[in-house]
Amino acid sequence: MGTDLDWLRAFEAVYGQRIRDNKCCATAVARMAGLQTPEGAPDLIRAKAIATFSRTGKVPDSLLGAPDRSPTAGPIGKRPKNVSAVEIQDLKEGKTVASKGQRIKTLEGLLAAAEVDPSVWVVTKSVINKWDGFIKTKSGKTRTVPLWQVKAWIARKPEFLKAPVQPVRHIPRKPSKPSKESTSTCVVIPDSQNGYRIHSQHKDRWEPIHDRRAWDLAVQLCQREQPEEIILLGDMLDLAPVGRWPIDNSVMGTTYTTMHELHWWIGQLRQAAPSARIRYLEGNHEHRIRRQLLDNMREMSGLRPVTDPDGPELVSIPRLLGLKDLDVEYIGGYPGAETWLWSKVRVLHGSTAKRGSGATVGSLIKDANASLIMGHIHRLELCGKTVTTAQGQATYYAMSPGCICRIDGVVPGSDPKRNWQQGLGIVRRTKRGKILMSLLPIAHGEMVHNGDLLSGSSRIEDIRKATGHKWL
Ligand SMILES: [Fe+2]
Ligand SMILES: [Fe+2]
Repeated sequence: MGTDLDWLRAFEAVYGQRIRDNKCCATAVARMAGLQTPEGAPDLIRAKAIATFSRTGKVPDSLLGAPDRSPTAGPIGKRPKNVSAVEIQDLKEGKTVASKGQRIKTLEGLLAAAEVDPSVWVVTKSVINKWDGFIKTKSGKTRTVPLWQVKAWIARKPEFLKAPVQPVRHIPRKPSKPSKESTSTCVVIPDSQNGYRIHSQHKDRWEPIHDRRAWDLAVQLCQREQPEEIILLGDMLDLAPVGRWPIDNSVMGTTYTTMHELHWWIGQLRQAAPSARIRYLEGNHEHRIRRQLLDNMREMSGLRPVTDPDGPELVSIPRLLGLKDLDVEYIGGYPGAETWLWSKVRVLHGSTAKRGSGATVGSLIKDANASLIMGHIHRLELCGKTVTTAQGQATYYAMSPGCICRIDGVVPGSDPKRNWQQGLGIVRRTKRGKILMSLLPIAHGEMVHNGDLLSGSSRIEDIRKATGHKWL
């Protein structure tokens, strides 16, 4: 007891003021005193008693007669100088190695002192703590010394860590063989805005507002792909003379020739892919004819020739373009006109246009619960959305394949600074029903398809010959 009292007074001389000033908690006092229970936790009972002594000067009963401090606990008392006891305990998986004292300050030092064989053991966790302890010198004075607790959890090294490391060997990849699994393909042809402007002085000079080289690339693509499906995404006619707003005279009188040339181009698609199903979606520009009828000649709307009561309406795009002769299905009813590809991809011309590249498909995909393709914005945009359902993950895509009209400002209502791009779209469905979409940008009449650079031709001589319109 006497020894404990001496120790307590010595402790009070060094730490008492700090305990009082900082109102140290029992855990902090236990740490200063190096007191631990046999289980390794801070010995709070004795720490509280020490704190009471520091604050009141009275020796609490709980301290007197208390069991001796653990031999490894703390820096206090007459411990041999510069000696750290290394304790090793077995765990269910591995061991702990721990030391306290002045000598061992690092993990490496601890492992060396415990003679841990690094070829057999691996450290999974470690802690290092430092605090001030104090000891009595030979002359009976007390001085503070830094003390360290170093503890490591070690486990037997797994086999893969024992395996020798070998340099990486670079093995060349064998050329891959394309899967024999067949895919269904659809070529998507967006807004061509077919039409002309007639020169104000030279009435025999007609400038197309559609891009014939881009049209020719669409034909070449259909020839190369032999798709099951071709979709004309709407606004294949500009119909500026039929618009609601006043227009300049340069477009007047061009509609008939426009129909002729567009019929020829669609005929080229039919020849390029004879077995393809071709669908033509109504866009807001085709819708101009129906709207004019409803606004100004309602009685004409829905009329059919008496000799062909089951055919298309008299004044309608399918009839004017002769789509039946080309075996092309027309899907009218803009803005509600839409169709589905393989029951998986919603296809529509669209009426939404957001400012900025990527903004429109980005906005449409937010609420989409299927993949979709749209035209109308004349911009190349493609994005995806992956959702988690009860059946697992599903990814939807939204694509706008741009346009094949001219983008240099010649299209009525546009200017050369418009953010438009030319392109075509390809959609594929794998045998297992997966949908894959890709954009094929067109730049200055050129496009890359399957690694080949393709050049578009205006086909002007062919068009003149085929339509008889020599002024084109
Ligand atoms: Fe449009
Ligand atoms: Fe358009």
